[in-house]
Amino acid sequence: MDILGISCYYHDAAASLIRDGQLIAAAEEERFSRKKHDFDFPKNAINYCLEAGGITGMDLDYVVFFEKPFRKLDRILATVLQTYPQSWKVFRESMITWVVDKLWVASTLEAELGVTREKVLFSDHHLSHAASAYLCSPFDDAAILTVDGVGEWVTATYGTGKGSDIRLLKQMDFPHSVGLLYSAFTAFLGFEVNEGEYKVMGMAPYGVPRYTDKVWKVVRQNQDGSFALDMDYFSFHHSTDKTYNNRFAALFGDPRPVSLHFFTAGTGFPSYFGAKPGNYNELCKLNQHYADIAASIQKVTEELLVGMAKNLQKMTGQTKLCIAGGVGLNSVANTRILNECGFDEVFVQPAAGDGGGSLGAALWAYNTLLGKPRVFRMENAYWGRHYNAGEIRSFLDGSNIPYQVYENEDRLLNRVVDHLKGGHVIGWYQGRFEWGPRALGNRSIIADPGNPNMKDIFIPTIKFRERCRPFAPAILAERAQDYFELENPTRHYPARYMLYVVPVKEDKKQKLPAITHVDGTGRLQTVFRDQSPRYYSLIDRFGQATGTPVILNTSFNLKGEPIVTTPANAFNTFSKSEMDALVLDNFIVEKSAL
Ligand SMILES: [Fe+2]
Repeated sequence: MDILGISCYYHDAAASLIRDGQLIAAAEEERFSRKKHDFDFPKNAINYCLEAGGITGMDLDYVVFFEKPFRKLDRILATVLQTYPQSWKVFRESMITWVVDKLWVASTLEAELGVTREKVLFSDHHLSHAASAYLCSPFDDAAILTVDGVGEWVTATYGTGKGSDIRLLKQMDFPHSVGLLYSAFTAFLGFEVNEGEYKVMGMAPYGVPRYTDKVWKVVRQNQDGSFALDMDYFSFHHSTDKTYNNRFAALFGDPRPVSLHFFTAGTGFPSYFGAKPGNYNELCKLNQHYADIAASIQKVTEELLVGMAKNLQKMTGQTKLCIAGGVGLNSVANTRILNECGFDEVFVQPAAGDGGGSLGAALWAYNTLLGKPRVFRMENAYWGRHYNAGEIRSFLDGSNIPYQVYENEDRLLNRVVDHLKGGHVIGWYQGRFEWGPRALGNRSIIADPGNPNMKDIFIPTIKFRERCRPFAPAILAERAQDYFELENPTRHYPARYMLYVVPVKEDKKQKLPAITHVDGTGRLQTVFRDQSPRYYSLIDRFGQATGTPVILNTSFNLKGEPIVTTPANAFNTFSKSEMDALVLDNFIVEKSAL
């Protein structure tokens, strides 16, 4: 039985194909369309999934959309009526999208895929989130927490999963939303909403959470973990372009200018920003203020999530927890939930945001709706398209790019390790691209994490980005506890997907300067031999050569672009930045030979 799940028209459009309950392929549309967070109908992702399954749309047994469009329309109409006339603009813009796209979802699916109406099903937004985590987790019985910006009406749920069943026990509704609260601060701190949330999380450790009292003025949490925003401070419910209002700005001061470079007295002034400004001290103070605000909203968000998870644990008595929704990508909060809420184990799948809703919708239909037993557990994130040796060679030959082919893996790995030891930066591209926003060793840029200059090499010439986001370490799973404060690392699924942030061991910090964040933590990825054998061998070999089985891994993309998909994307990114070599499966392109 083939079921296609689809999410689109809101944040990240994606498609997932399952066959008899087993995941065949899953991908976000942005990887193909090259439009970051593309939310349009995911035509390319669907085509890829069908191709991977060797079928056409007409062969599908069901197509499942990840939410209920009519219920969402209901929320928008109700919000508009409550906040009219300020909401007129949001109403008009929403209606245009609704009439054009969303209300016609079923017809679009029928037309695009050639399926009949009775094969089209609709899940609920948060049910899709819940299913996207629980149904592919290793647990038979677990609590489920979903938290995001907003679905149809719902912004967070408590639930449980048992066998193939999912029950949502409690919900929190729009406009009270942890995701939208965090996004309001993301905008205030000068970052793009739905994109810059990671930067806020990265900036937080540079600050001190001295403004939590003020943040608690705009949100409060109840005894049962539920929460309420004070809507007098926000405008996202009646505006399409402003998330907070003047009262919010009066509480926290002027918003951070988008053009302000981020540095503090602690970081010093990085040379890649050019000449040191005359008002350096004043700018340091200003940035410190914003870092303190970032630390405060991060702290309050963690408290909200910990409060929710504790209540959920009490309510259900469960020892396992599945988390989904965009807020599930907050790796710092996930670690606190693991440590403080009474759960032994936590599961988050790599596409915890709306893209993952397509997977959840498909699994929900197969397991929960049709009552079929669960057969799939998500052990890795490699569900995207693979470009084979013929495709890579034909791209390289067609573009007259000189390369070497390494049929012998040992020789290839030795060559890459030599580069890494020499302080070089490598584009590492292999196999199927990753599901979700993280690069996990198939579309990664890699380097030596022991090189203290690596941050300064990376930021201006490779990633062209702000200093505040840390680089991540990839480590052999069974060696992780030697370097990080994480016991039994192999049993923690979120660590496979860089969804925990844990302290680097005191005696290892000096060995890992390029991946140790300012607060002494690292967002590690545990790498398993059976899931990613070649990447594992590379890290292992690097460990043998240097004594440290850890590699610096960052996503293979230029600032503002989606992670690379094709060999051509990879080469393009490689040639525009200061990487020294590009590995495309068995092919190596050396910058010095170009
Ligand atoms: Fe969502």
